[in-house]
Amino acid sequence: MEKENPKMEQIVSLCKRRGFAWQGSEIYGGLGAVWHFGPLGVEMKNAIKRHWWATFVTRRNDIVGVEGAVLMHPTVWKASGHLESFTDLLVECKKCHRRFRKDHLQSGKFIGGKATEPMQCPDCDSKDWTAPKDFNLMFKTFVGPVEDEASKTYLRPETAQSMFTDFKLVLDSSRQKIPFGIAQIGKSFRNEITTGDFFFRSREFEIAEIEYFVKPGDDEKKFGEWLDLWKKFYLDLGISENKLREYEHPKESLSHYSKRTVDIEYKFPFGWSELAGVANRTDYDLSQHEKFSKKDLHYFDEQTGEKYIPYVIEPTMGIERIMMVAIVDGYKVSDGSDAREKGEVVLGLSPVIVPIQVGVFPLIKKDKLPEIAREIAEKLLQRRIRSFYDEAGSIGRRYRRQDEIGTPWCVTVDFDTLKDDSVTIRDRDTLKQERVKIEEIENYIFAKLNLS
Ligand code: GAP
Repeated sequence: MEKENPKMEQIVSLCKRRGFAWQGSEIYGGLGAVWHFGPLGVEMKNAIKRHWWATFVTRRNDIVGVEGAVLMHPTVWKASGHLESFTDLLVECKKCHRRFRKDHLQSGKFIGGKATEPMQCPDCDSKDWTAPKDFNLMFKTFVGPVEDEASKTYLRPETAQSMFTDFKLVLDSSRQKIPFGIAQIGKSFRNEITTGDFFFRSREFEIAEIEYFVKPGDDEKKFGEWLDLWKKFYLDLGISENKLREYEHPKESLSHYSKRTVDIEYKFPFGWSELAGVANRTDYDLSQHEKFSKKDLHYFDEQTGEKYIPYVIEPTMGIERIMMVAIVDGYKVSDGSDAREKGEVVLGLSPVIVPIQVGVFPLIKKDKLPEIAREIAEKLLQRRIRSFYDEAGSIGRRYRRQDEIGTPWCVTVDFDTLKDDSVTIRDRDTLKQERVKIEEIENYIFAKLNLS
């Protein structure tokens, strides 16, 4: 079995064909960089979000969750600096009038990483550009029936701000003490200038992030701890370590709020790109909101009597990017050296985030085999094990269909089942088959998932 470096076309084709993801509003020609997730995609996204939440919120005492709104008071974006600084440098080709992000052209993003000097238009080869100008990535909208300056606000470009504006409300209601974190998963919107690379860079996407509040002076140590935890999240999902690397942002290119930012990058088919990041936002956001709202956002330490504005370490990651890296990294094609035929695709996803965990088949549609198999699938579903009953086609074809979407285990009911109440469970990765009593299937799967 080869661990492939798949081409993006293979990923896009698999995702569309099997119901992971496709272009939004496709029947109308699509809407640029907006994606819809199909039946398998939404199961996978939900599984990723549940796993993330369990890892960083449910299983920790020092982190609480919130759900802020997409729409916030317009002053939030003034205070946070997004109105002024959440911009990319945009240039327009004077010949074909297509617009690009200047840094993307300079990095040679569209021409295999080899930039030209002077910059060349990827569409018409012209080298004649307008002067670069700042383009704000926030989507504008109006709140209420009047469309004027006073009712103008923005769709949030990050989930972070509600965790700063609500800092005191969370603190008072949850009785947390510093150090502690606020976590959120939610939709964010950015009017990206250049897109492409499937749902890697979308205009609507979900961010999972934590604002971890610490005493000033403890920030650098906590930064290191969060960077390790962030990397571990990917390694625990089985992502190849040699395709992950850290990128330390140089001082001059840090976001307006950041003292230090390190990205975790993955080697995608289109090159090394950001998967996640950890930033030291210092006391920037709370100080700004204190200044603009005139509300006291200091923290009072009852034990020491100290009063201070906490520093914030912010680990962040995009849900769609976790999904994309898992699919790209797990994509393998058989070279025929195992029991599979050459060219068969296997998606080596972690069982925790896979859309379907167990395929259940009757060997053939005869006697009581379908009835028993249906009952097993139903029972597993009731125990919240994502299972799928399939009786169509040969058993080999059914295995192949499940392999291609990453199903880790397939249960087959055969004629021996009628005699010994046992089934065969086939493992996607080892191809080993084990005989397991029907009443033991749940425990078998739970043990593999490390649950009880
Ligand atoms: N609050 C900090 C923040 O928003 P960011 O690096 O701009 O930081 C967070 O975004 C994460 O969201 C990124 O690490 C990336 O995984 C994901 N992300 C950013 N822009 C995206 C886009 N246009 N489409 C999909 N995911 C995106």
